[in-house]
Amino acid sequence: MSNVTRAALVTGGTAGIGLASASALADQGYTVFVTGRSRDRLEAAAGQDSRLKAVAADVSDPEAIQALFDRLKAEGVKLDVLVANAGTAETTVFGQTDVAAFDRTFDLNVRGVFFTVQTLAPLLADGASVILIGSIVSIKGMADLSVYNASKAAVRSFARSWANDLRARRIRVNTLSPGPVRTRLVQRLRGQADGSIDAFEAWAAEAAPAGRIGEPQDIAGVVAFLASDAAAYVNGVELFVDGGLAQI
Ligand SMILES: NC(=O)c1ccc[n+]([C@@H]2O[C@H](COP(=O)([O-])OP(=O)(O)OC[C@H]3O[C@@H](n4cnc5c(N)ncnc54)[C@H](OP(=O)(O)O)[C@@H]3O)[C@@H](O)[C@H]2O)c1
Repeated sequence: MSNVTRAALVTGGTAGIGLASASALADQGYTVFVTGRSRDRLEAAAGQDSRLKAVAADVSDPEAIQALFDRLKAEGVKLDVLVANAGTAETTVFGQTDVAAFDRTFDLNVRGVFFTVQTLAPLLADGASVILIGSIVSIKGMADLSVYNASKAAVRSFARSWANDLRARRIRVNTLSPGPVRTRLVQRLRGQADGSIDAFEAWAAEAAPAGRIGEPQDIAGVVAFLASDAAAYVNGVELFVDGGLAQI
């Protein structure tokens, strides 16, 4: 079946996993809206892939999500795919973490995901696919990351609940949980003083049976799968896409 008239939205779709996923959905024939905060990154993403429609929206701000809803509604958009991808990670050493750091992570990763899906839900087509980008840390107690780890456990929980809440509309909700992926987020979190992530890459290559760090395209292909009719019977799962890292 052709997807020519179908629409998708990827939050945080101007870089990394979100941008690769948006392009993979465009390859499947979707009209793809991408959101982000930085005007430069929005323009760069649309410049890199002219099939993408870039919309400025900070999804940690519920009013900005409402404005996004208003704009899409005014354009008559019905979403067949919603990828709640925008997320952040920062070190939160236990014993030294302040409220501002806690809130930065939860405002985007938890509140942002909640209001993205709740606010945009009226625009979802019956039978739509909602994909929440989690992380393997939902089941891992990685040191100095307890706030991030907990935020991703909440994301995984949302998928379970919303698969139930949205069942009357046959909307599937799944969590895709990546392992380490080479993106700006990892650069920020794991980069050394000289900007190198060599040590982190070496750790990922050792820890994962796949023997390497992930690339955004490794995740994007699975986003396209979860969006597709091939995944019509996949609902409420947490799908780990991590080269096997979290499973051994
Ligand atoms: N990379 C990994 O190893 C890894 C592993 C597991 C899970 N994940 C998850 O994958 C998702 C994407 O991560 P990534 O590594 O691709 O990150 P990234 O390269 O830093 O890209 C993040 C994207 O989100 C946007 N963004 C950030 N804050 C936003 C906000 N408040 N509102 C709207 N957009 C926002 C960014 O654009 P602007 O900054 O311009 O807004 C950018 O487009 C996150 O949920 C992350 O937790 C990543």
